[in-house]
Amino acid sequence: MVSIMIALLFLCLGAEAVDRSNFKTCDQSSFCKRQRELMPGQSPYRALLDTLELSDSRITLQLINDNNKVRLLLELYRLQGNMTRIKINELKPLKPRYEVPDVLLNDPPTEPMTLVAQDVNSVVLSLGVDEQRVIVNARPFRLDIVEGPKVLLSLNSRGLLAFEHLRLQDGGGSDNAELADDEDGQTVKEEEDKPGMWEETFKTHSDSKPNGPTSISLDFSFPGVEHLYGIPEHADTLKLKNTDGGEPYRLYNLDVFQYELNNLMALYGAVPVIISHNTERTMGVFWLNAAESWVDISSSTSGKTVFGKMMDFVQGSNEAPQTDVRWISESGIIDVFFMSGPRPNDVFAQYASLTGTQAFPALATLGYHQCRWNYNDQEDVKAVDEGFDEHDIPYDFIWLDIEHTDGKRYFTWDPNKFSQPKEMLQGLMDKRRKMVAIVDPHIKVDSGYSIHNEIRSKGFYVKNKDGGDYEGWCWPGNSGYPDFTNPEMRAWWASKFAYDQYTGSMENLFTWNDMNEPSVFNGPEVTMHKDAMHGNWEHRDVHNIYGIYVQRATAEGQIQRSGGTERPFVLTRAFFAGSQRYGAVWTGDNAAEWGHLKISIPMCLSLGLVGISFCGADVGGFFKHPSTELLVRWYQAGAYQPFFRAHAHLDTPRREPWLFGPDNTALIREAIRQRYTLLPYWYQLFYNAYRTGQPVMRPLWVEYTEDPDTFAIEDEYLLGKDLLVHPVTEEGAKGVTAFLPGKGEVWYDVHTFQKHKGAQNLYIPVTMSSIPVFQRGGSIISRKDRVRRSSACMENDPYTLYVALSPQGTAEGEIYIDDFHTFKFETDKQFIHRRLHFSDNALSSRCGALYSPSTHRYTHTMCTMCSLGYLYQTGRSISLFYSFCFDSAASVLTLRKPGVNAGADWTVFLV
Ligand code: NOJ
Repeated sequence: MVSIMIALLFLCLGAEAVDRSNFKTCDQSSFCKRQRELMPGQSPYRALLDTLELSDSRITLQLINDNNKVRLLLELYRLQGNMTRIKINELKPLKPRYEVPDVLLNDPPTEPMTLVAQDVNSVVLSLGVDEQRVIVNARPFRLDIVEGPKVLLSLNSRGLLAFEHLRLQDGGGSDNAELADDEDGQTVKEEEDKPGMWEETFKTHSDSKPNGPTSISLDFSFPGVEHLYGIPEHADTLKLKNTDGGEPYRLYNLDVFQYELNNLMALYGAVPVIISHNTERTMGVFWLNAAESWVDISSSTSGKTVFGKMMDFVQGSNEAPQTDVRWISESGIIDVFFMSGPRPNDVFAQYASLTGTQAFPALATLGYHQCRWNYNDQEDVKAVDEGFDEHDIPYDFIWLDIEHTDGKRYFTWDPNKFSQPKEMLQGLMDKRRKMVAIVDPHIKVDSGYSIHNEIRSKGFYVKNKDGGDYEGWCWPGNSGYPDFTNPEMRAWWASKFAYDQYTGSMENLFTWNDMNEPSVFNGPEVTMHKDAMHGNWEHRDVHNIYGIYVQRATAEGQIQRSGGTERPFVLTRAFFAGSQRYGAVWTGDNAAEWGHLKISIPMCLSLGLVGISFCGADVGGFFKHPSTELLVRWYQAGAYQPFFRAHAHLDTPRREPWLFGPDNTALIREAIRQRYTLLPYWYQLFYNAYRTGQPVMRPLWVEYTEDPDTFAIEDEYLLGKDLLVHPVTEEGAKGVTAFLPGKGEVWYDVHTFQKHKGAQNLYIPVTMSSIPVFQRGGSIISRKDRVRRSSACMENDPYTLYVALSPQGTAEGEIYIDDFHTFKFETDKQFIHRRLHFSDNALSSRCGALYSPSTHRYTHTMCTMCSLGYLYQTGRSISLFYSFCFDSAASVLTLRKPGVNAGADWTVFLV
């Protein structure tokens, strides 16, 4: 019996889990192995303090490796907004090393620094106007950033800085004369070659490594810190784990078939940003490098047993916790941004000032998206569209996957199944609905396909190491991969979205960029060979930014086709730091399992913390067929995640919301309708994310910074700061226990208006219709309670304000209104942003007072706008509310249409 069960288990795993052997471990990735073999405490680097040069806003200093005599150049900049940038490169590289372009918004503005003190072994510099200083220790090299008496962050305190300099394979020779002697005339000693330095094989693939070893590594210590977050994408916990004795976190954009949960393997996207948090401070480190990277995390107290911690206490040991991070990348340079907070919103603003904020999406894209691989033909699309009306379920977008094309030739339509795309799109437009069609970045090699011919003739394909066009296997069969790192290529790609170029497209057609890691079915680890060439750079250098360039070129194409007026919508699977500027991200090919539903929460929370707010997971699960219970629960959870799309694999049975019996249809309908009633709030949150970089979906600790009980919570989260969501993610759940944060605060169940005290674990019995959601006492949330066919149909409907009183009887909120789809909010300042306030029985609306801790760029504009009064683009006045009711027992006030104008100042008195 036992053996049968084991055999069955094996079969299941074999058939359904990721094939790990397709992907490298650190040991199989030669640079990771080499770097990890380096032990702490043996740093060969020394800072040559006599080389220190300080101009107003830049410090340079040479470091020497005492083992091989190779010198590095360290540059340090104090950036405006409480940030410090540290770059380390070879002083005299054999040839330039890759520095990631296009991710930073601009050259970050600097602030002056001054030399405070210097002795033989150290230098102290004062950073900017505040209390922060940098202390550079010469031997061994170490750099600390301190504020007052506290060390905020240390670099190389464990001595793990390692910089593999460029070299020639024969160990020097005449071509390497420059390198052979260092400035003091000492001869550079090359280390012995180690396996994998000049060539590496993995399975049947070999990597030719013409530049030899080029990897870099540095360690960071966060004293007093036990909680780190970030470095998505991993299907794992929100709080980062200790990697001691295990695999490091890997950042390498990969198409991982049937990815595993609770695993630090790389996934489709990579954002090299870590956020630290403790009760006193939040900070961030941004490691700007696009090559394959690995991150080790080691926490000095978290490994201790409770007994060990107790002994420390009893013995009076005041050993403070500390978390150490070691970052390893295969090529490029060290370019690190330290964001010193101190509050979470400061870190978000700091990171946003570097890489931009979330693109403000059109309202419709925040509605519900219906997708599957594939809707078979136009009739199918029509039937599904009608199904939503028949069952009175709203939706905004229906999606077409790869089968809609003519033989996987993107920008085309299957001539039989989708022969009249405009007719189909017009049908949707008549109902004020929209469509997304997939456009992948692999291009069928086919001389009868004009897109391929043009790319080839313009020389826009990525090249293989021998100079020919790189070819690999993907959906269309043999495919070429456009070099999206080339701006001319991107401009050409963007031009292909023009209505007269993309045959059959219309204004209500938008785009999905999939497989842009890039996925190469027959490539090493299902991606591109690292020795493929993008102009002068190897794929090795640019791998993790390939995907962001694809999404960017597509978004630019959509903007251009509308003459620059309409906001684009592009969903991407691969991403990098800055992808938030171009659209939405989803978590790829999950499975119809409860664990995948659960993990969607920390996965999206991690992305939100590093700027990418527009995140969602395939509702229902991509692989396999969900049980009805799981499907319903997933709709209920997905309705409260930023990007709300159901999607399913080609081989799964159909699962439109009405296929599971009337009771379940009703449950799904209700979940989607709840999403639509809250669209005004979602829109306002996205406006806020666009303006400030603050995540839409946020972990509790972001708002309750001093409550350690919130630091590891990942089964519930906040939307903005006022809604708390605790989705049901357990099979057969009869109840959930939600933690309601905030001592002295109150929370209202949004369905029953029942009031609960903060700072407690609350058990909530659930039925299949329950979606536990709470509104914070002291907040005002705008909703539209009349739900229609699509968000566009609801545009002119009245708003209802839900005023939930604090224990002091007050409440505050915001409302944001514009035309919901153009850039006029930006270009012509056509929007209304109001701040709502309730106290002393009076509800008033005033000009939106903006709070933007470090960036004030919009303040002036918005106040000007408000002082001009009502400017809403249609010029019509909007009647907001017409009646109100006040439930004094629950302290809940509902106002409907008192006939006030959304754009004017007004006060409603309750008498
Ligand atoms: C992989 C994507 O992750 C999935 O969502 C899509 O359906 C298939 N590619 C087919 O395009």
